[in-house]
Amino acid sequence: MRPRSGATLFWAVLLTLALLPFSLSGCAPRENPPEEEPAEDAVLLGFSQLGWESAWRIGNSLDIQAAAERAGVQLMFDNAQQKQENQIKAIRSFIAYQVDVIAFAPIVEQGWDTVLQEAKDAGIPVLLTDRLIVTEDPSLYVGYVGADFLAEGRRAGEFLVEKADREGLTDLKIVELSGTPSSSPMQQRGEAFRECIAGDPRFEIVETMSGDFLRSKGKECMQEMLERHERIDVLFSHNDAMTLGAIEAIEEAGLRPGEDVIIITVDGEQAAIDFLQEGKINCVVECTPMLGDIIMDLAKKLAAGEEIPRVTNPEERSFTEFDEDLMDIPPRGY
Ligand code: AHR
Repeated sequence: MRPRSGATLFWAVLLTLALLPFSLSGCAPRENPPEEEPAEDAVLLGFSQLGWESAWRIGNSLDIQAAAERAGVQLMFDNAQQKQENQIKAIRSFIAYQVDVIAFAPIVEQGWDTVLQEAKDAGIPVLLTDRLIVTEDPSLYVGYVGADFLAEGRRAGEFLVEKADREGLTDLKIVELSGTPSSSPMQQRGEAFRECIAGDPRFEIVETMSGDFLRSKGKECMQEMLERHERIDVLFSHNDAMTLGAIEAIEEAGLRPGEDVIIITVDGEQAAIDFLQEGKINCVVECTPMLGDIIMDLAKKLAAGEEIPRVTNPEERSFTEFDEDLMDIPPRGY
């Protein structure tokens, strides 16, 4: 852990005050302050969250905050409100504060090299969480903890192939609702899904639109696509929030989600699992937001100067209409 001088502490207090308005925005206010102050030598972790675009993201933020309390890690938490420049500002604040470790969920893949070089020059290890970046210098971050998005896209594609095989379906017109442009889940989920169905004449992607991982945009995009295409047989949506919006549009168009339109979604929010059980969604590919405990464990190791694995993927699965235990899925917690 890094010693902090009196002057540094002065600036630290100022920076904390500056970051305070963002620290819990979007979460339910904490009614009871933590009973114990973190120990003086507690690991100090600066975390930049990308925003609050989905129930998944809120679950992720709450899990990180709860895990920090459990682990006795002092957390400076900033919400970047869906803007890369806000994430860069937060990371610069963490560097000025001389935190022990920086973790962040990069909203897009590109454009991090300068600020990460600053963190490296300051000797602060950087952990990527939830999303990946593209850089020519892999030494700019020490590790990644989060989903394997290629595996998620593959699971989505494999489900569709299985569904078509089982039910003898052909000539399927697919629309894709993709996530935030240039984000790693958007790129990789789309790429792996496409690879699964490539060259199979039963499948055709007729349109891809970005709903930015937002429910409202998911609905708008689906409305537009339903107007543009005479027939849509399959929706592959990169997250549950967009799917929930799209289902509203499908129902408003007089169609039955899950029957007239096969629906494949990613995340595994409780609302999506409920729709799977009701028959309105056919497949939910899990992407867990519960990364907090792993992040705290890795942050402590990094602060102690230990090595960590380059990649840590949580265990994930998919839930489908073909599962025998469909009605026994435990509560998801997000
Ligand atoms: O990066 C993970 C994705 O971001 C989740 O699938 C989505 O819900 C969130 O917005």
